Amino acid sequence: MAEQAAKAPVVAEAHEVDTYHPPQKMLAKHPSKPHLSGLEEYQQLYKESITEPKKFWGRLARELLTWSKDFQTVQHGSLAEGNVAWFLEGELNASYNCVDRHAFKDPDRVAIIYEADEPTDGRTVTYGELLREVSRVAHVLKDMGVRKGDTVAIYLPMIPEALVAILACARIGAIHSVVFAGFSADSLRDRVIDAHSRVVITSDEGKRGGKLIGTKKIVDEALKKAPDVKHVLVFKRTGADIPMTQGRDYWWHEEVEKWPAYIAPEPMSAEDPLFLLYTSGSTGKPKGMMHTTGGYLVGAAATAKYVFDIHEGDRYFCGGDVGWITGHTYVVYAPLLLGVSTVVFEGTPAYPNFSRYWDIIEKHKVTQFYVAPTALRLLKRAGDQFVRNEMKHLRVLGSVGEPIAAEVWKWYFEVVGKEEAHVVDTYWQTETGSHVITPLAGVTPTKPGSASLPFFGIEPAIIDPVSGEEIPGNDVEGVLAFKQPWPSMARTVWGAHKRYRDTYLNVYKGYYFTGDGAGRDHEGFYWIRGRVDDVVNVSGHRLSTAEIEAALIEHPAVAEAAVVGVADELTGQAVNAFVAVKDGNEPSDALRKEFILQVRRSIGPFAAPKAVYIVPDLPKTRSGKIMRRILRKILAGEEDQLGDITTLSDPTVVEKIIVVVHDAK
Ligand code: WT7
Repeated sequence: MAEQAAKAPVVAEAHEVDTYHPPQKMLAKHPSKPHLSGLEEYQQLYKESITEPKKFWGRLARELLTWSKDFQTVQHGSLAEGNVAWFLEGELNASYNCVDRHAFKDPDRVAIIYEADEPTDGRTVTYGELLREVSRVAHVLKDMGVRKGDTVAIYLPMIPEALVAILACARIGAIHSVVFAGFSADSLRDRVIDAHSRVVITSDEGKRGGKLIGTKKIVDEALKKAPDVKHVLVFKRTGADIPMTQGRDYWWHEEVEKWPAYIAPEPMSAEDPLFLLYTSGSTGKPKGMMHTTGGYLVGAAATAKYVFDIHEGDRYFCGGDVGWITGHTYVVYAPLLLGVSTVVFEGTPAYPNFSRYWDIIEKHKVTQFYVAPTALRLLKRAGDQFVRNEMKHLRVLGSVGEPIAAEVWKWYFEVVGKEEAHVVDTYWQTETGSHVITPLAGVTPTKPGSASLPFFGIEPAIIDPVSGEEIPGNDVEGVLAFKQPWPSMARTVWGAHKRYRDTYLNVYKGYYFTGDGAGRDHEGFYWIRGRVDDVVNVSGHRLSTAEIEAALIEHPAVAEAAVVGVADELTGQAVNAFVAVKDGNEPSDALRKEFILQVRRSIGPFAAPKAVYIVPDLPKTRSGKIMRRILRKILAGEEDQLGDITTLSDPTVVEKIIVVVHDAK
């Protein structure tokens, strides 16, 4: 056995200078050995997952989760019909699987390592304590009238109570709808209304990077126009003096006191919704992606086990926020399903200084660390002197949310991981629920910048976007789609199933369409090229250009707006806005600032344009379609490659826009 653990998992061609194998030193410090013996075992299992998915997933679902009632039908429905379902007849409860089964076995095991914004303020929560806290909050929610199938909005910072709130909903069969606490009051209101949430869980304030955030104030503002919300449960985070609305708002600490420390988990059907999470699309308003209980949990547990190579006793740290899918799957569900300790980090990587992540990793002997490249770019730029810790327990370094440039990948591997940890670049989406193209730690050879190979059950296809036909073989480029359903795929857009089918399943009939361009190299490795729709990725946050344009148009001085994403050294992409103002408004810095403020107010600070260009008109076709491609070219300094502009209704605007952009630079 020991011999096997020491064996190098894979052999690649010697000329493949850029292929990195799982480091020997990672295997040497492993508490036992990776879950798979090597690439061959992956290939075998992968083959089974594609040719006999029911057998494969049926086995994993029973192995990884505890079902109160077994399932008989592993999978039903198809991508073409848009009615995919998994583990029918099966019943289970997410909070039972994340909490009870570990609490019964080992109540003192640490479930949550809370690293507060101030390094001195943290604490830990054991599985036993988590069970009691989740149960009490579940009672409180029931007392507030929440029933199975109701949605509950959660607007909380990164504190243990965010996890408690999520699990309390799951415990009583309520559908949680977490809204990232950086969203504005307007965005929160839209989500509360779309989901028909009647209860909101929040905190008095938040604390991040030494700054206070008026969380409850934003909720109050949002609820002015969401009259159906009956109750607000408020966790006291800072003790700020905040107004409480009589009969609507209740203090968390006062309510939980009133209830016993146990409530039985509600048995849920596998296909019952577990949560909604809103994400931006290329058009219109945000989509409430709906994930179900059984399939989602199987995906979360399976990827945590094989991608992060999680073993009992690991201390796992994902830097994502619970307001995004990364936080849902990889801060909350995945680590807790496997019964390890998950770090909940309230702060930022730059506070009190650029060593914060590395200090947390050192302090808690973190074994797996998972973060977006945007943070790595920031920290790489800050300087290697901040990475002063040994961090010798690190076995896995994960990357997520955007392509990771080769230099950043290498810095992560060499400077952070000291060449003793395996870097896994994980590709997935809010819609996929869990990793879909990713290396398996300790198993898959990696190439910096490639998300490598498909996870179990994922059958990728590279499609020619012009013909709509699949392009077989290696060394091909196109758009990325999947040919088979997988357990953790989102089942619908809340209240808009047609939109779900049109966006994901009807673009290429019979396939799930990701919206990303991708290449498959000569060895079958996948390289994600980025979105092919009007979605921009800023610091790993997904934004819709249409949504930002809609926000800008709300400003009374704006006639028309066009938003494009441009490459940015730090944030990956940055939002640039072109605004044509109404007659009587002159371009000025003050006006540009107002437009930025408009977006902050309407969506949230993270969506604010980095640059605003006030232009006399936008480049439009005669039918009125805005040619964003031309704007992107101008920003890239490629004015000589604009192509045919004679089809524009007024080709002379192009020259005028070029002048505005040049003057600003
Ligand atoms: C989009 C999904 C999934 C967690 C965070 C983002 C991009 C995601 C990678 C990666 C290159 C990536 C894609 C995808 N993306 N991971 N490893 N390499 N691009 O979730 O907000 O749903 O965004 O993020 O463009 O479609 P999301």
